[in-house]
Amino acid sequence: MITIRVPATTANIGPGFDSLGLAFKLYSYFSFEEIPSGVEIIGCDEEYRNEENLVYISFMKTLEKLNANVTGIRIKIESNIPVSRGLGSSASCIIGGVMGANEISKSGLSKMEIFNISNEIEGHPDNISPGIFGGLTASLVNENIPYFTKYEIDRELSFCAFIPDFKLSTQDARKVLPNIVLYTQAVHNVSRTAVLLKSLENGDVDLIKIALEDKLHEPYRKSLIGEYDEVKKICEENKVVGFFISGAGPTLMGIINNNTNNLKLKEEMSNLKNNWTVKKLEVDFHGALVL
Ligand code: HSE
Repeated sequence: MITIRVPATTANIGPGFDSLGLAFKLYSYFSFEEIPSGVEIIGCDEEYRNEENLVYISFMKTLEKLNANVTGIRIKIESNIPVSRGLGSSASCIIGGVMGANEISKSGLSKMEIFNISNEIEGHPDNISPGIFGGLTASLVNENIPYFTKYEIDRELSFCAFIPDFKLSTQDARKVLPNIVLYTQAVHNVSRTAVLLKSLENGDVDLIKIALEDKLHEPYRKSLIGEYDEVKKICEENKVVGFFISGAGPTLMGIINNNTNNLKLKEEMSNLKNNWTVKKLEVDFHGALVL
């Protein structure tokens, strides 16, 4: 049996829409075992135990690309990443499926080849690249090929996810985005993305706060996230260093340091309506691994 561990990820990180991503020490485990025939998917909710399962789809697509075959497969999914919450659960399933197929077929794909196939299935690379390579990444796609680069991140910074009890699909969250943006909005984001990356590396909290402000997606998406304003206010009052929507949402993310009043933050969040889970997350620097 082969087991793949894939980290949760956040994407966009404010202004870096469809490019920036970061991996966390919160993992999903995907185990693959050949069986005489058929498909067995276990460990996950009943609704995912079928051939529409994203791990299985990604596994089969990869085998097809590799001209490889299995007679039957059992896939066990143990996921700690909440589904449809903006923490990269789809990307983790895709990476798990692609890496599982690579291991089962003993194909020896490189990490870049795994990145390429996973990106083709997902459609954008921002969760995929930190999921595979770990840490803080910036990605781009050129002529359908994804590329990425890794950035350092100050070790004093931690992240705090505010995860509501409702889901938001990426598809729905992309529907509210405009097709055209103003030149001033583009300049706002390009300049902030560049400054943000260096300030995350230096741990420059004053700059991080300013550089996180986004004009390409957050203004359109916040109305889809009930109590967005309330969560943001609680964060501001308790010295959270920076605040952004995690991926397409609905999870909201705070960057915290030693000055953050974590206890009060948690207490005030518990008074809100949407049963927000407050989860402290540390950065994962390894990315997906075959255990
Ligand atoms: N960059 C993507 C988005 C991340 O914000 O729509 C979600 O997968």
